[in-house]
Amino acid sequence: MPISETHEDCKSSGNGDLIVRLITVVQKIGFALGNEAINQATLKFKNFVTQLTELQGSMGRVRRELKLMHQFLSRMDIRNRHKETYEIWVEEVRMLAHGIEDIVDDYLQLVTHKHKYDTGWNTCLKKGFMRPNILLSLNKIASAIKDEEINLVHLFQAKDRWVSTVGGGNTTTSNESSSYIVERSQHLARISCSLGEEDLVGVDRNKEKLQEWLADDLRGRSVIALHGMGGLGKTALAANAYRREKEKFQCHAWVSISQFYSIKDVLKCLVTELSTNAKKSNWVNINDMDTQGLREELKKFLTHQNCLIVLDDVWAPEAVHDLLGAPAPNLKGSKILLTTRVDDVARLAFEDRRITLKPLSEKESWELFHKTAFLGGTNHEYDAELSHLIDQIVSKCKGVPLAIVSVGRLVFVRDTTKEELRRIHDQLDWELINNPSLEHVRNILYLSYIYLPTQLKSCFLYCSLFPEDHLLKRKALIRWWIAEGFITKRGRSTMEEVAEGYLQELVNRNMLQLIDRNSFGRIKSFRMHDIMHELAVDLSRRECFGVAYDGDNRHWGFEDRDERRLVIQKLNKGIDQAISCAHSLRSVIALDNSMASSSSILRLVADNCRYMSVLELSGLPINMIPDAIGDLFNLRHLGLRGSNVKLLPKSIERLTNLLTLDLFRSSILELPKGIVKLTKLRHLFAEKQMDRERRLFRWCTGVSISKGLEKLTSLQSLQALEAQDESIRCLGELRQMRGLRLWNVKANHCERLCESLLQMKFLSYLSITASDEDDVLQLDGLNPLPPTLHKLRLSGRLAHSMLGAESPLFQADAGGQNLHSLRLFWSQLREDPLASLSQLLNLTELHFTRAYSGEQLVFFTGWFPKLKILRLRDLPNLKRLEIQKGAMISLERLRLINLSSMEEVPVGIEFLMPLKYLSFEEITADFLQSLRQSKIGDMRWWHTLGEEIDK
Ligand SMILES: *[C@@H]1O[C@H](CO)[C@@H](O)[C@H](O)[C@H]1NC(C)=O
Ligand SMILES: *[C@@H]1O[C@H](CO)[C@@H](O)[C@H](O)[C@H]1NC(C)=O
Ligand SMILES: *[C@@H]1O[C@H](CO)[C@@H](O)[C@H](O)[C@H]1NC(C)=O
Repeated sequence: MPISETHEDCKSSGNGDLIVRLITVVQKIGFALGNEAINQATLKFKNFVTQLTELQGSMGRVRRELKLMHQFLSRMDIRNRHKETYEIWVEEVRMLAHGIEDIVDDYLQLVTHKHKYDTGWNTCLKKGFMRPNILLSLNKIASAIKDEEINLVHLFQAKDRWVSTVGGGNTTTSNESSSYIVERSQHLARISCSLGEEDLVGVDRNKEKLQEWLADDLRGRSVIALHGMGGLGKTALAANAYRREKEKFQCHAWVSISQFYSIKDVLKCLVTELSTNAKKSNWVNINDMDTQGLREELKKFLTHQNCLIVLDDVWAPEAVHDLLGAPAPNLKGSKILLTTRVDDVARLAFEDRRITLKPLSEKESWELFHKTAFLGGTNHEYDAELSHLIDQIVSKCKGVPLAIVSVGRLVFVRDTTKEELRRIHDQLDWELINNPSLEHVRNILYLSYIYLPTQLKSCFLYCSLFPEDHLLKRKALIRWWIAEGFITKRGRSTMEEVAEGYLQELVNRNMLQLIDRNSFGRIKSFRMHDIMHELAVDLSRRECFGVAYDGDNRHWGFEDRDERRLVIQKLNKGIDQAISCAHSLRSVIALDNSMASSSSILRLVADNCRYMSVLELSGLPINMIPDAIGDLFNLRHLGLRGSNVKLLPKSIERLTNLLTLDLFRSSILELPKGIVKLTKLRHLFAEKQMDRERRLFRWCTGVSISKGLEKLTSLQSLQALEAQDESIRCLGELRQMRGLRLWNVKANHCERLCESLLQMKFLSYLSITASDEDDVLQLDGLNPLPPTLHKLRLSGRLAHSMLGAESPLFQADAGGQNLHSLRLFWSQLREDPLASLSQLLNLTELHFTRAYSGEQLVFFTGWFPKLKILRLRDLPNLKRLEIQKGAMISLERLRLINLSSMEEVPVGIEFLMPLKYLSFEEITADFLQSLRQSKIGDMRWWHTLGEEIDK
């Protein structure tokens, strides 16, 4: 059914979420009318064929109607947005779609969901009579769908009578389809990397000033302010300084004030960050502290150590007084960097410690636009008309870099022709005139939203449900998007891959800000720019996309607005009331785990919200999962990471739509046998952590799945499985596997395990831990290493044949060229493994813990050219470490931990300098002395002393 092939075309319609919702409903009906459901229905209702046929007929007609509706809405021109009749009509469509979705869900539940009384069910069936309430439900659904069918027809007619619409003809081009996005995103990622904030125009002088101010020792000049309107790049400038300068301070913290609700939360966050980032760790328990205690703690940090604190986006001077106390303490070497839009806040800094960011000049604006729109390609030939258009567009941005970059990216991603530019220009004009309620910059940003393909609109709005400045993580977000139904599989790309393409696209369009990549360049975390966030919040409210509950019940009303998504940013007692009357909720994400009572949410949801499909309660102190969870037939995502759950109820096996079950770092002991009935499961995380330091050989336990594992063929993540003969044997059937973690692997499992692993054609992360310290991992069979493998972690004694000089495993031509991260624990190798590992040219991370029992390690010239992170820990015999000039030329971070035999400063370590981070941990006082007298004596590095020395 080709509907998903065409629906992205509606780029210029404002009703992104509605359109996606219509598609979802259409797909759902498709499923309800599919063979599987029909067979089940016929079996279940074989004495009621007439009713069933009639119901299915209605559904078919509703589906057709919805498809037409969808087509119509998709072709709607954005200019209809402000017409009142049209808006009312759209609202009606939305409500109708919601109603139909509920009915179809009810039907699917009736037909496909295993009811808890189902054991007695078959005998009832055989005798040919029906449980009366079930028949009642069938009739109810049949009459409800008939009503909706009539409503739909009326609504369509009403449109023709009342709603006059503009356009609807020519506004589509076909190159916006998401397959196109996926294909192109990698290419885009590569080029847009080269355009960091470093390239922004006109910031060099400010960067220098900041650097100078952060380094000076002048009394009373501790507070520095960056001041200016939104979009001028204050945060970017602060972030740049923070990144470059923070390691020069003894401790550092970055806090976005707007993210918090109370001064206590800010203080808590500050103190936690400072103590985590402190070089001298003095851990304090802050959980029970009151505001005054926290303030004292902060003061201690600020006066005893030199700290760098960034307070981002401060709205009132009182906030700063509240944090530091007034009068502010004498801060010595500590620095506080504020960013703000407010004059009064800026005045907290002396005049000679303020930077007021100004809009760019015309020339600078042009330069920046050029850089973003044409990626600096200077050979562009413009004719007069084109440069005139560009001039006009740029001048509307009034020198605000964020606006210029956003329009620039828009022009860039659309491979602009002159006609396109003219349309963007006209659209911008139109928005600026017709949207007086949006401030100027937001209007320009709004344009980026309008031009998003429909499915990206939903993905984008989804991000707005999280608090301002909330750090979003790639993997989690992608799993939510999928469970929400925003993502459709395309060709050979999995939904996860399509979603990653979308994410990349949003970053490329400057609608999400990239915060961090992992060591081999993949997006790891990101957030929304605050102005973009304000805009998105506004849009989601208008599109009834979802609600963010922040403890303030005023913008709350499930009764009259049929909300479907709820993100709990701040918990209070009102939440119970709110959830218990929100029967149509489809998603709940709880971000606040501060209150003990938060554990009642799960029960409330299970009892009240029967359509629930995304339930993310990670971090909440939940102990028990109610039986009633099995009634949530729609559930696709269940997140209980970090909870206290030890066991799952048997009813879990009825959640046949579940895609993700997340019990990572929980207290989980075992899974019910029926887990293998959840055949749609894509991600199964279940692991209990026992040692946070990860120094114990067995710092975690996984779960056993002794029978039927081979049925879970959709699994992409399985973390972690306790190895058993049976499960090892059938692992190979899990062909979709991407991330696999195994505990308790015995020597006699290895051969079979390797065979199974080689059948996984997409395996990208693999972690194997032996059953005990002395069991040998014999993994020669893993040869060649799967070319898809990016991360490998092996814990346990390694067979000598694996890493010796003739090791077949890591030969240059034997696969493994895509391995980026290798971690070896407890391998107890006697031969130096580096020569063999150095063949892994693409390695960016290497960790050893008890991996090597020899006395010397030498890194030769040219080895590990891409390595960024190296960590050597607990190598008790290592006496000598040598680094030749030209080895590890890309190294950024080096940690040497508990190398107790090492008495000599590593030879050639100066060749690596300067590093972003270098530490010698758990060393002796004598070694510290040698370090101070060595070639790197006055360079920057960190140390901690070992325990014996302290006594
Ligand atoms: C649609 O576009 C074509 C070519 O771009 C143009 O000739 C035609 O007049 C347009 N139709 C409408 C209804 O705008
Ligand atoms: C890995 O390294 C090889 C050889 O240097 C190179 O050809 C290949 O493209 C690299 N692969 C990746 C993913 O970087
Ligand atoms: C340091 O290494 C030694 C020898 O490997 C080990 O016995 C000791 O437990 C390690 N120290 C810590 C704190 O783990």
